[in-house]
Formats: sequence, structure tokens, C-alpha cells
Amino acid sequence: MARNKIALVGAGQIGGTLALLAGLKDLGDVTLVDIAEGVPQGKALDLAEASPVERFDAVMAGSNDFAAVAGADVIIVTAGIPRKPGMSRDDLIGVNTKVMRQVGAAIKQHAPNAFVIVITNPLDVMVSVMQEATGLPHERVVGMAGVLDSARFRYFLAEEFKVSVEDVTAFVLGGHGDTMVPLLRYSTVAGIPVPDLVKMGWTTQDKLDKIVQRTRDGGAEIVALLKTGSAFYAPASSAIAMAESYLKDKKRVLPCAAYLTGQYGVDGLYVGVPVVIGAKGVERIVEIDLAAEEKAGFDKSVAAVKTLCEVAKNVQA
Ligand code: APR
Repeated sequence: MARNKIALVGAGQIGGTLALLAGLKDLGDVTLVDIAEGVPQGKALDLAEASPVERFDAVMAGSNDFAAVAGADVIIVTAGIPRKPGMSRDDLIGVNTKVMRQVGAAIKQHAPNAFVIVITNPLDVMVSVMQEATGLPHERVVGMAGVLDSARFRYFLAEEFKVSVEDVTAFVLGGHGDTMVPLLRYSTVAGIPVPDLVKMGWTTQDKLDKIVQRTRDGGAEIVALLKTGSAFYAPASSAIAMAESYLKDKKRVLPCAAYLTGQYGVDGLYVGVPVVIGAKGVERIVEIDLAAEEKAGFDKSVAAVKTLCEVAKNVQA
């Protein structure tokens, strides 16, 4: 059977890490595409030279021509600009909306059968711009945010409880970052809901509140430390988990920015919710009952995404 093809549009910090992970995990051949001359070619060659040591067989290619995405099974988009200290994700909207339209048009022309994962920020809006630009069915255009937010949350909880990250699950809803809604009652350590762990004396509500806030600010914490860019290892790992679930039809339940058609009382908007990802793309949206306070947090998040979508619509070509 021929190998799958993974096209990575944007060969920067996240793009390079995505390519390495795709190689290490034997997901298929990788094509990096970027407007920066020599960068996708250089990274592809560097990665190919790592393959004998890491023992993976994959074609690693780099190109400045968007037509190179042709035939891709999965396309992961990180093209655009990242944040600098003091910037919010929303400050990127003008530049990155134009980039999404350009990349989306190329995907429409060259790879209309691909499953498209968007990472570029501000995520919930960029995935919507991408879907419009590609014209692909909503179930084949999805945004990576929740897996990253929940990974950060899981890491902080595991650190607090001094247990393996493997045994911590976390449930998050809503937009990426500031307005995300972590659902503590559905977050667990080996199946034990986190609120029960407060009762068991493992932690305090105050500590949990701080962890929730640190998770919301997780991206900004890294931006402040790096000073020249934003997080890239954990975002790349998160998107690769989504790509793998699609390519292997694993049907994993992952929080992603998905298009809602009435679920959670939202119609016609991309927002972060748990979804099942399999060979058909977003195969199902997991809809749970929300308590009043959780619903209020979710609605606030939805309102923020709606406002930004309007801003993106007004970005001139
Ligand atoms: N087409 C293709 N590539 C582009 C375009 C374009 N129109 N515009 C910019 N790029 C490329 C840049 O040349 C750069 O190599 O996108 C790449 C982005 O890489 P980095 O600047 O290293 O940014 P990265 O850390 O990978 O983050 C990318 O993901 O998490 C989000 O907020 C982050 O929006 C940012 C994106």
C-alpha cells in the first residue's frame, strides 16, 4: 500500500516539528510548503538526513509552490505569523486571514480531498476562514486548539497530584485560550473526577482555580519566555494526534474547533467541542449537558469567536 502524504503548509517552528513527528511516527511522506525560499527545502533535507538514524522511511520534500500539496491525505496549516510578547492571538487576525485565504484557495485547487487541520491563530476564526476559502465539507476542516489546551491542563494537574500524565484526562470546551472552559467535573485522575480529589484532600479549590488560569494563559506564558515566537512542541504533538486519528481511523475523542449545527445551542460557527475523528473526518460531535455556570462560560466564548469572525470578514483582500 502506498504511503499516506502529509502536507505541511508553513515550515516554521511548528511545521518543522510536525514533520519530525510525522517521520518518527511513520505517518507517511511529508511535503513542507512555505513562502520563505530555501526553508522548506532545507528542513526537508535535514529531516531526511535524520531518517537513517531514527529508522523511518519517508520522502521528505520541501517547496515554495503551493501546488506541492497535490494528493495530500492530510494538510496541516501553520502558515502565518505567531505572537510576540504583549500581543494577543487576536492581534494576528489581519495578516493571518489573508494567509488563510491564499492557502485555502491552493488547497481547493490542488488537494480537494484532503483532511485539513488548522493551527494558525486566532484559531477558531482562522479555521472558519479556511473552510470558506477551500469550500471543503465542514467535517474535513478542523482546528487544533482543545487538544493543546487540555494537554496543558493535564500536565499541570499531573504535576499538582504527582501522578503520571497518562492517568490524567481533561475536558475543555470553547475557544482557544482566554475564553476556554475547562470542565473539572469531567476531568479525572484514573477515572476519579477532579472535584472528588478536592474532597479527598489531594488538592484545594484555590489551587485548582490557579491551574485553570495558568492553562488559559498557557500560550502567553511560553511567549513571554521565548520572546521571539510562540509554543511549538506541544501544538505540533496535538495536531499530530488529530492527523493520526484520521489516517488510522482511530475514532479518538478529541477536543477540536469543529463546526456546530445546533449542538450546544450554536448554529453555523466553529467552536471548541469534543469530537470523534475517524476516516470520515469529524464523524460526530459529542454534546453533553452543561450546568448553568458552564453554559455561561461557553456562551461567552462563543460570543468572542463570533465577534472575531466579523472582524475577519471585514479584512480586505
Ligand atoms: N504561505 C505559506 N507560508 C507562509 C505564509 C504564506 N502566505 N506566510 C507566512 N508563512 C510561513 C512563514 O514563512 C513561516 O515559516 O509560515 C511560517 C510560520 O512559522 P513561524 O513563524 O515559525 O510560526 P509558528 O511558531 O510555526 O506558528 C505558526 O501557529 O500557533 C500558531 O500563533 C501561531 O499563527 C501562528 C502559527
